[in-house]
Order: sequence, then structure tokens, then C-alpha cells
Amino acid sequence: MQCSPSLVRSLSSVLLALGVLHLWLYSHTPSRYGKHEEEEEEPPRRAHLSARCAWFLQELPAFLVPALLLALRSPPRFAPLGCRLLGGMFCGHYFHRTFIYSFLRRGRPFPLEKLFFGVLFCIFNGFLQGYYLIYCAEYPDDWYNDIRFTSGLLLFLFGMGVNIHSDLILRQLRKPGELTYKIPQGGLFAYVSGANFFGEILEWFGYAIATWCLPAFAFAFFTLCVIGPRAYHHHRYQACCLYILILINFFCSCL
Ligand SMILES: NC(=O)c1ccc[n+]([C@@H]2O[C@H](COP(=O)([O-])OP(=O)(O)OC[C@H]3O[C@@H](n4cnc5c(N)ncnc54)[C@H](OP(=O)(O)O)[C@@H]3O)[C@@H](O)[C@H]2O)c1
Repeated sequence: MQCSPSLVRSLSSVLLALGVLHLWLYSHTPSRYGKHEEEEEEPPRRAHLSARCAWFLQELPAFLVPALLLALRSPPRFAPLGCRLLGGMFCGHYFHRTFIYSFLRRGRPFPLEKLFFGVLFCIFNGFLQGYYLIYCAEYPDDWYNDIRFTSGLLLFLFGMGVNIHSDLILRQLRKPGELTYKIPQGGLFAYVSGANFFGEILEWFGYAIATWCLPAFAFAFFTLCVIGPRAYHHHRYQACCLYILILINFFCSCL
């Protein structure tokens, strides 16, 4: 396989367009899984898979596709250290999501139709990011000393830390088997109601700065368009719950 800059440009443009489309579709109504599936008045009969299984299947291609591209590259390419570190950042994130996060995940079963689109997206994005890094990226040998790489790496690691820590706080809100929603507290939840999403957005913008390339910026933009609206809907949902609690407390104290 050879590097095709026009293929990279076209796939990145598709990613940017998908981000805009998602923003347009889900800025008013939330994507129907997890918390926001419960909000539906008449839930449609949709097939579901356990959350653990669904997250494992959904995230696996984003790890596997770049790893396969690397393994199948002939002749093998021994990229500069900076390039290998960037590949490690992307695959490291998805290694965690596939083999650690999905097994720790609790909560509601996941709709099959969302899983289907999630798998397609992870194949697409895993191919784009992996193909660019393995076949197209040209970095100087000392890229790991460049300010873009170091600042991007720090932002990526900070975002990943926030994301993992916030997902841990969310898991600890419930006893095993419980499905109720509570107000998350502690960590960055003290400042941002969607701290796990905030962490993930920082992560991919850090990755984009460190790689300084169109596919990674397109992915960071896509992430912002996908989980930005979800964070907004979570925030509204929690604000609603808080007002209801305040009202109940108020009426109870009046009785
Ligand atoms: N890069 C991307 O494009 C992208 C897209 C989507 C997600 N993600 C990442 O994937 C991870 C999971 O996403 P998500 O949309 O599933 O996050 P989420 O809606 O916050 O749910 C995460 C987990 O926490 C539980 N939970 C959420 N709020 C809770 C509350 N108030 N009380 C108790 N439990 C609560 C959920 O249970 P229920 O399932 O029962 O609601 C679920 O198990 C996040 O880290 C996110 O950043 C990335």
C-alpha cells in the first residue's frame, strides 16, 4: 500500500462532515442510549446487548485495525520515535477502552443499532488514523522534542487521566446491579457536569496537536461534535433532577 494524500483528505472530510451531521441531529434531542433512553415516553422495541459486550465489540476495531495495518505493512517500517509514540497514544487509548473499560462498565444494556454504527465508525477511524501514521506521516527524527508534540502529549495524558478518573467516579455511584442516576461528585465533576466527556475531548485535541495533521484534527472535531451535545443533555438532565429534589425538600419541609 502507498500513501494517497487525496484518500487521507477525502476520509478526513467525511469525518468532519459526520461531526457536523451529528451536531445537527443531536443538539436538540439526545442520542438514545443510557440515561437518555430512559427519558423516552414510549420506548421503541429495540434489541439490546449487555453494556460490557457492546463496548468491547464497538471499541475493538479502533485498536485492531491500526495494529493490523502495522503488522501487514510490507516492508516493515521502523518509523522515528515520535511517530511510534503517536501510534502508541492512539492504540493505548483504545487498548484501555477495549480491554479494561468495557469489562468494568456497568449500566443499561446498549442498543444494537447504536453498536452497529459504533463498530462502523471505529473501523473507519481506526483505518484513517492508522493509515495516516503508518503510510503517510513524515516527522523529523527529533519530533518528540517539538513543542507541538510535548504540549499535545501532556494535554492528551491530562485528558486521559480526567476521563478515566471521572468514569471511575461514575461507576462508584452505584451498587452492583443498581441502575438509578445520582449526581456525581468529586474530581473534575466539582467544576464540569460532564467531566468524563471533557477529559475525552481534551485527550483528542492533545492528540491532534501532537500529531499536527488533518485526520487527527478531524477526529478531535468529530469527538467534540459527538460528546459535546451528550454532555449538554447530561447537564440538563442533572439540573432537572436537582430542581425536583429541591422542590421535594421544600414541600416536605412545609408539611
Ligand atoms: N470519542 C467519542 O466519539 C466518544 C463517543 C461516545 C463516548 N465516548 C466515551 O465513552 C465513555 C462512555 O460514554 P457514555 O456516553 O456511555 O457516558 P455516560 O452516559 O456518562 O455513561 C457512562 C457510565 O456511567 C453511568 N452513569 C452516567 N451518569 C450516571 C449517573 N448520574 N449516576 C450513575 N451512573 C451514571 C452510565 O450508566 P447507564 O448506561 O445506565 O446510563 C454508564 O455506565 C466516556 O468516557 C466517553 O467520553 C467517546
